[in-house]
Amino acid sequence: MTESSSVPTIGVFDSGFGGLTVLRALIALAPQAHYSFIGDTARLPYGSKSRRTIARYAAQSARFLVEEEGADYLVIACNTASALALEDIRAAVPSSVSVIGVIEPGAQAARRASKTGDVLVIATDATVHSHAYAAACRTQGLRTLEKACPLLVPLVEEGWVTPSTLNEPLAPQTASAPPQLAVTAEVVRIYLEELSTEAAAEGLNPDTLVLGCTHYPLLKPIIERVLPAGTKIIDSAQSTASELVMYLCRDLGAPPKPAPTDPILRFFATDSVEKFERLGSRFLGRPVGNVQLVDLGG
Ligand code: DGL
Repeated sequence: MTESSSVPTIGVFDSGFGGLTVLRALIALAPQAHYSFIGDTARLPYGSKSRRTIARYAAQSARFLVEEEGADYLVIACNTASALALEDIRAAVPSSVSVIGVIEPGAQAARRASKTGDVLVIATDATVHSHAYAAACRTQGLRTLEKACPLLVPLVEEGWVTPSTLNEPLAPQTASAPPQLAVTAEVVRIYLEELSTEAAAEGLNPDTLVLGCTHYPLLKPIIERVLPAGTKIIDSAQSTASELVMYLCRDLGAPPKPAPTDPILRFFATDSVEKFERLGSRFLGRPVGNVQLVDLGG
């Protein structure tokens, strides 16, 4: 925060566009902050990479947000980077910068939602193999079963999701429904059926599904259709935003006030700004413009 201004700058980082779902929740809860978002689109996906590579890439983005954009807080709006590189990110920036990941808030939201104490998690390969969700859920007293769903990120990136925006209920299936949507729905169905068979084999009685990847909220209407009625779906965006507000209240001594004007948003990407603007608005739920191309190095 600059001395002349009490308006904090929040740096938000993702490997791609998915973290814009988290930015959307942040803006809703803390609309008066300034936000700088970087999507490391040139190096996406992180979910199939090694811990060392993910940590190196994530630390570069974190430094960019702090050194170039003056971020006072960092929100790691990427489950894979939060699961594997949170400590590396903290080590890469001054200790005065609060770094918030999405895993702990997601596990806390799952605990609030689950009555049976058994929770399913879907995520990228790297997140699942880190077992970060299992560990965070265990501290919340929950049992978990995690499943990697590596086909889902490319389907979302390709735009093979519900035609318009986040959380819109899926129209009844008709002959005119786009065939791309049917492909995505089938992939989701196969993953979730496998997961529920594995859960039954392990004697779990899950009532909650954690979307452990920031791309998955765009699949929520499709996922809802496949899950047993009454299953709760956790998108950690909301609880991450609440955690940020907690930090803001702690540091500024007051909850954020509603902004009279639109929040100040700055966007950066490491690859095609055109694609970022086009796909990004779906994730953010408002137009994404003036995206600047940055080179974070190797
Ligand atoms: N942002 C990543 C996550 O939330 C998904 C995309 C990727 O694999 O880089 O896990």
